[in-house]
Amino acid sequence: MDGTQYSWGGRFSSAPEAIVQRFNASVAFDQRLAPQDLAGSRAHARMLESVGLLSAEELARLLGGLEAIEGEIKAGQFQWDEALEDVHMNIEARLVELVGPVGKKLHTARSRNDQVATDVRLFIAEEGARLIASLARLRRALIDAAAAHVDVLLPGYTHLQRAQPVRLAHHLLAHEARLQRDAGRVRDALRRQNQSPLGSGALSGTPHPIDRQQAAKTMGFDTVTSNSLDAVAARDHLLEVMAACSIASVGLSRLAEELVLWSSQEFGFVRLADAYCTGSSMMPQKKNPDMPELIRGKTGRVLGDFVALAVAEKALPLAYNKDLQEDKEPLFDAVDTLRDCLDVMAGTIATAQFQPEAMAEALADGFLEATEVADLLVASGLPFREAHHRVGTLVGRLVAENRRIPDLSDGEWQALGLAPETARARVQAEAMIEAKTQVGAVARGRVLEAIEQASQSLEAE
Ligand code: ARG
Repeated sequence: MDGTQYSWGGRFSSAPEAIVQRFNASVAFDQRLAPQDLAGSRAHARMLESVGLLSAEELARLLGGLEAIEGEIKAGQFQWDEALEDVHMNIEARLVELVGPVGKKLHTARSRNDQVATDVRLFIAEEGARLIASLARLRRALIDAAAAHVDVLLPGYTHLQRAQPVRLAHHLLAHEARLQRDAGRVRDALRRQNQSPLGSGALSGTPHPIDRQQAAKTMGFDTVTSNSLDAVAARDHLLEVMAACSIASVGLSRLAEELVLWSSQEFGFVRLADAYCTGSSMMPQKKNPDMPELIRGKTGRVLGDFVALAVAEKALPLAYNKDLQEDKEPLFDAVDTLRDCLDVMAGTIATAQFQPEAMAEALADGFLEATEVADLLVASGLPFREAHHRVGTLVGRLVAENRRIPDLSDGEWQALGLAPETARARVQAEAMIEAKTQVGAVARGRVLEAIEQASQSLEAE
């Protein structure tokens, strides 16, 4: 069949320039939407039959043709033709080839504008669910690692300076808490976009007596979109899902950055499994954290995907404009990239060996007891600002003398206004941690509770 004539119809007297055909075509990337396009066409055909626009026999032939096409695509035998521009025209043209003139009835009461809008929403529903599953796998890996390391202590950091002791489990659960919100953001986006645009036609609906709700239900949508212009022109539901991907990537990048730091010889807090690392082509001793580095690096790409579509959409008059064809590649890239990052990170965490001794060593230096000493002075009646000043002066002196807080003599503790025995017991890492029993804090009981809660909400989802 002559693709050009088929797609653009009688208005055209000449075929497009070769470069125009290539520049205009989207089939190279939108053939990925074939499963959604077939699902949409089936639902549309069934609806056309039920309102009397197709006979039962015509419907059967169309469904048979669509099934044959699905088989060809799955078998890799379908001949995609750039001259037919996109996935929609390719499938429709093949349908006509297979079932004859009745194939030309499928596009009754439908435009590629509402068709592509429908396909993409179906795609987002599926890919969003996959992202939530990948988020869940990573969350599970973090919760398991937390449960296995409840009694491992390490410095918590601010400004990448040792600050106060925390439990490793608490640190891992901090990342889990964020991932839980990431999943919520994807879920919110899915809920809002769950409306069928089909029946909006090119921009203003259709005069045919179609049943939009029926087609929507067949495809699994909650309901139908409420404004035909908006339905074919809006891409904010793609932006929402890509924003959720971007935010998730940013958080994932922070976890990745920590793994890069922690697996360095300088920190030594974690050993990454060989299966999740790579070597150097020149330096035989190297074992590099390429997976977290790539995850960190791909963040820019996911954010770029969001920006690419936001900019493409921002100056478009209603309704459909061809600029909108630029929506698919960034969307595909954002969901694919984030899903890979999540899956690689889940494996990295599940196989990582955390190093409690290195963490314990890091706890010994850095005056992590300073806040605790100030808090002890507060408990004995000193105003906090005064206590802060007193301990600051003490730390300054100890730094100059190359000593640490646990080195303080009985006399020095007393001069500070504290009983030596009690103070020494309270500045142990474990004791400092166990003193923090508030909700959300690091005491053992709270962390066990948090592990339980994280696990439960993951199961409940
Ligand atoms: N391939 C097109 C896209 O992705 C489908 C819609 C084409 N509509 C049109 N009026 N040319 O945007």
